[in-house]
Amino acid sequence: MGKTLILGATGNLGGLTAGHLHRSDPLTLRLATSREAGLHRLERRFPGAEAVLCDWNEEASVVEAIKGVSRVLVVTPDIVTDESVVTPNIIRAARKAGTVELLVRLLGMPPGFTLEQADPAYVAARCGAGLHVVAKPLLDTSGLPVCYVNAPAWLMFNLPSFVATDVKANRRVAMPASTDCPRMWVSEGDVAEILAQVLSGDPADHVGQEHVLTSPTRHDYSGLAGVFTEVLGEAVTYVDDDRPLREAMGGSFDQLMTYLSHETGSYAGVQHVDTLARMLGRPAETLADYITAHKEYFQ
Ligand SMILES: NC(=O)c1ccc[n+]([C@@H]2O[C@H](COP(=O)([O-])OP(=O)(O)OC[C@H]3O[C@@H](n4cnc5c(N)ncnc54)[C@H](OP(=O)(O)O)[C@@H]3O)[C@@H](O)[C@H]2O)c1
Repeated sequence: MGKTLILGATGNLGGLTAGHLHRSDPLTLRLATSREAGLHRLERRFPGAEAVLCDWNEEASVVEAIKGVSRVLVVTPDIVTDESVVTPNIIRAARKAGTVELLVRLLGMPPGFTLEQADPAYVAARCGAGLHVVAKPLLDTSGLPVCYVNAPAWLMFNLPSFVATDVKANRRVAMPASTDCPRMWVSEGDVAEILAQVLSGDPADHVGQEHVLTSPTRHDYSGLAGVFTEVLGEAVTYVDDDRPLREAMGGSFDQLMTYLSHETGSYAGVQHVDTLARMLGRPAETLADYITAHKEYFQ
């Protein structure tokens, strides 16, 4: 097996996936960041792996990073990514390399949802499905050996980002009511384990596949507060308050709110499939498991 390139290796999912692959073979890993500071972080965190600079807004930069690579993982960040620039650059670079046997792309969108169905404001918000409906058709028609890992759910790392501070200080899950709906929740640890499994597997088992990762249960904010109550052993209540989310998102708050106003409806019809537990060979992590494992964030 040749080298595996992770575009987005300093990120949450990219970093966790790199961790899995690094444990089995650091020497086949090429980890990319667009920042000089990211390079030093990668070298410290993943000794023995190759760390490279790559800005996916520049095609030449991706061409350089992808040279000689057989597997690629792409995880693009919300808010800042222009998929109409980034994805074509990655596609052209992968074609030029001619060595890519498997390109794995992380998605978070209702299966079958298309750009034509998406409100332009959804797409302009550049979050979640608003990003991925742009990237997916480009990859679908690229002729490259693509596999999607699609989590049309909230990743549990939203808890430390959005609600942990208020749960810890005031025993409140404080989120704006307009963004509430019964959501599926999947842990970032489970998603990363699947990404690593796919990247280290036989490309023939994954090319052309969309592995959809969902949870069997849904939780709205009151239900989430109930899980906190159960795990922490103290009453935690849901309150309609946008202040913690405003503080977490800073200048991107309005952009996220636009996204969420669409997401609350578009994810409602997503059906649960047992892909996650089947591929992991064990039950998926639940919200209660996650809160228990990360109690220091919440208590
Ligand atoms: N939050 C949720 O509930 C949820 C649910 C489902 C799916 N998702 C999806 O998950 C993805 C985000 O995952 P994440 O949180 O793991 O991402 P993240 O931590 O934001 O990481 C993004 C990565 O992109 C890299 N990057 C940024 N600008 C770049 C550039 N110009 N060139 C090359 N690399 C660049 C960053 O590295 P450097 O800055 O070091 O370059 C970083 O490693 C999004 O697509 C989101 O829609 C989220």
